Amino acid sequence: MRKLYLSRKVDELKPSGIRKFFDIAATMDNVVSLGIGEPDFTTPPPILEAGVQSLYQGETHYTSNHGLIKLREALAAHLENLYNVHYNPNDEIVITVGGSEALYLSANALLEPGDEVIIPTPCFVSYQAEVTLAGGVAVEVPSRFEDDFDLDIQAISAAITPRTKAVLINYPNNPTGAVASREKLLKLSQLAEKNDLIVISDEIYDRLIYGMEHTCFPALPNMRERTVLIGGFSKSYAMTGWRIGFAAAPVEILKGLVKVHQYTVMSAPTISQYAAITALKQCDQFVQQMRKEYNSRRNLIISGLKYIGLPIVEPFGAFYAFPKVSNTGLNDEVFAQRLLDEKRVAVVPGSSFGKGGKGFVRCSYATAPDQIEEALDRIQQFVSSL
Ligand SMILES: Cc1ncc(COP(=O)(O)O)c(C=O)c1O
Repeated sequence: MRKLYLSRKVDELKPSGIRKFFDIAATMDNVVSLGIGEPDFTTPPPILEAGVQSLYQGETHYTSNHGLIKLREALAAHLENLYNVHYNPNDEIVITVGGSEALYLSANALLEPGDEVIIPTPCFVSYQAEVTLAGGVAVEVPSRFEDDFDLDIQAISAAITPRTKAVLINYPNNPTGAVASREKLLKLSQLAEKNDLIVISDEIYDRLIYGMEHTCFPALPNMRERTVLIGGFSKSYAMTGWRIGFAAAPVEILKGLVKVHQYTVMSAPTISQYAAITALKQCDQFVQQMRKEYNSRRNLIISGLKYIGLPIVEPFGAFYAFPKVSNTGLNDEVFAQRLLDEKRVAVVPGSSFGKGGKGFVRCSYATAPDQIEEALDRIQQFVSSL
């Protein structure tokens, strides 16, 4: 028998359900996609300009491992202004290759083999894989439609074992659009203290929130000391391709993240770091404009899905709607596959996002309103044909 070249953990890792689906969609004509998880806007002009200028000024070298100090200072000031949480820019912030790298660093710096990480699901597709690749065990705790996909504190509490090292949360949430209530986050903070757990809080959609206030987890009482805050520029500033994000954590934890970072990527892209300084310092009005536009698309898609008769929890954050499709008699994978085959609309089956996503599909509204309207028409035809 031939030797297995790949490590067992990589060999056994399932490819992302999203990718599989989009590879199929890409081969078809006339597809309306509600599948993408990224802004359709181009990066705001001052940010583009700052990136270009940095190149002409010869800023084409590595930066310090932590990232440009000017960027870390701007980020520390930004977090202090918005959430009243203080990070020392010198040694408590690292600039990363997107929020994705910040997740990778957290898992690899924190986990011993066999350490368990509790993850409320449905969740971003990378979470379970990042934990597994770092040698940990991902323990999924489904969030419930009936609770508006808020944290299920009882279920989280029941999932804690002596091997639990961390809880990995994401609000506003991909794929549900849920914003956790402050009350539940406070309860989670009490659980974390009682059981000495770290909380990895991925707040990459913090600025994309509609008619609600974002609660920054490390700003809750005593939480700064046991939280790794993950954030980024991809979503708020429409900068997915620039590959830039950050992690902030108390110095002892951040030191570990930076060790992994320096041996993995050295430093985040320099051009993107210069661009990000301008994003933070000059581009708030663009964030507000994009948020306003997402909000009107959000209203369009929610009222359309309700009209079609698909049950939905109103999403107050990110740019996703997550209707329940199981009442149609189809499971989410068959629903998405048939919707694509028969009506050429791409949505993502909820089970790609973990156990809690079964029976739902994710519809991204980070796409033009006429596309959303066309997709809604086709979904209506599809549902009424069942
Ligand atoms: C919840 C969540 N976290 C992290 C990321 C990664 O973003 P990036 O690496 O572009 O910063 C995404 C991207 O879709 C996301 O949805």
